[in-house]
Amino acid sequence: RRLSPYDAGRVTRRDMLRYLGAAGLAGITGIGLAGGSRAGNSRAVTKDVEILLTARPGQARLLPGTPTQVLRFDASVVRGDPAAVAPSPGGYLGPTLRLKKGQRVRIRFDNRLTEPSIVHWHGLHLPDEMDGHPRFAVAGGGSYHYEFTVNDRAGTYWYHPHPHGRTGPQIYYGLAGLLLISDDEERTLGLPQDEQDIALVIQDRTFGADNQLRTLGRGMMMERMMGFLGKDILVNGQPGYTLTVSPRAYRLRLLNASNARIYKLAWSDGTPLHVIATDGGLLTRPAERPYAMLAPGERVELWVDFSRYADGGELALKSLPFEGGMAMRGMMGGGMMRGMMGRGGMMDGMMGDTMSRMNEGMMGGPANGRELDLLTVRIARGRPAKSEPPARLARVPPAGSGDARNAGNPRTFRLAMGMMEWTLNGRTFEMNAAAADERVALGATEVWELANEASMGMMGMMAHPMHIHGVQFRVVGREVLPGLREAYATVREGFVDEGWKDTVLVMPGERVRLMLRFEDYKGLFPYHCHNLEHADLGMMRNYRVV
Ligand code: C2O
Ligand code: CU
Ligand code: CU
Repeated sequence: RRLSPYDAGRVTRRDMLRYLGAAGLAGITGIGLAGGSRAGNSRAVTKDVEILLTARPGQARLLPGTPTQVLRFDASVVRGDPAAVAPSPGGYLGPTLRLKKGQRVRIRFDNRLTEPSIVHWHGLHLPDEMDGHPRFAVAGGGSYHYEFTVNDRAGTYWYHPHPHGRTGPQIYYGLAGLLLISDDEERTLGLPQDEQDIALVIQDRTFGADNQLRTLGRGMMMERMMGFLGKDILVNGQPGYTLTVSPRAYRLRLLNASNARIYKLAWSDGTPLHVIATDGGLLTRPAERPYAMLAPGERVELWVDFSRYADGGELALKSLPFEGGMAMRGMMGGGMMRGMMGRGGMMDGMMGDTMSRMNEGMMGGPANGRELDLLTVRIARGRPAKSEPPARLARVPPAGSGDARNAGNPRTFRLAMGMMEWTLNGRTFEMNAAAADERVALGATEVWELANEASMGMMGMMAHPMHIHGVQFRVVGREVLPGLREAYATVREGFVDEGWKDTVLVMPGERVRLMLRFEDYKGLFPYHCHNLEHADLGMMRNYRVV
């Protein structure tokens, strides 16, 4: 069977030329494409929608007292279904875009920042001109016109800026929003919906005493290399987030929109997680896990029944400690390193915050043996409506590697640090690579191997959440260096590799094999680390579909 996440609502080459032309010329106020957008497909008629999306400096009330200066997205529906734009949860994140598979979408992006920007639709399978590659960044005051058909399965996607070198700061100051896609298949599954379908965007931030966002210290090269780790957790743009639920089943869609922090998600009462979806939509059946790893850019959806708390109660969603592993451990022993570098350790006293942050970064996440409370779930008293996790979800083809062209000889990508910059296969990003770094044939299925075996040379290794634009892929293998098995055991059970992915966490010492199929669109697409500081420091390359 063909391994494809885009099984319906296919766009022909003629369609593509037609709307690429229209995107540049017609603009948001022009005449839309006539009628339904799915010629040749007689299923559900989905109406076109036109959206105006603006990025601008603004303020948000995140803490009591002085408002916080932020960058914000505002969006409105210019034509079509008004439900396509839902207000920002909490005022800090961008509005939520609700689109349907097969729908034709036109979006005008107005950049009202004082610096270049461009919007990327993370996880969507689109022509390269619509994907928000950094080379399409428009200066402050400029606009970019998008027009595309939604090809992707129902699921939790997101949008964010993607200008080269400035993606980290722009997302950090508030430019990120959810993009939820629904489809016909999903509607037949009886999953929790409406008030029982909740999206939760997790971010870490640091606030100063003046309520303003603090970012990487100037000249903090070490921090810049590790990636930003904030002191406070925001969920849907709010610190100390509490979700009030009734005693029944819920669908919780989690997005890690942090710059660099990796979470190891678990319920505080030890209940296992029932994962129903990953980046590219629903799984075949729920996957049970003691905890789930969620790296920047990744999404995971949980099914959870709160009916056993009918008498009211509280539950927390936590991030558990885990080890990223470090090359230096071999020399000095993990315990000793932790003693020296952990919070309150010897080096911490000597070097302060930078060193303990550096330690957190190297350990890959919320390490230092510390747990983080991400949010509190407060269960309201009421008559319990008990249910079982759904036995069956969507159709997902198995991820064999039988039909991959280069299965025996995968393309290998080395994740590493060179000359104080992050590199992929030995060099940093070249935005306008006339010759793309990698060439793949349209229609080909390939195996790519991401090797994280020496990412910081003598200094150790870091985890890298690797994201590939333009496709949804499958994870077909993972292996780790023998010396790091112990550290790896603290995260291994938290990978959910059963479904479609666009971002995959590659732990220190790990090699991860992916199977990708390059369908529908020729063109130049980036792939990069979604630790935003790493990406901004050049840990990005292009591939060209020819
Ligand atoms: Cu979420 Cu290239 O990005
Ligand atoms: Cu992306
Ligand atoms: Cu990285």
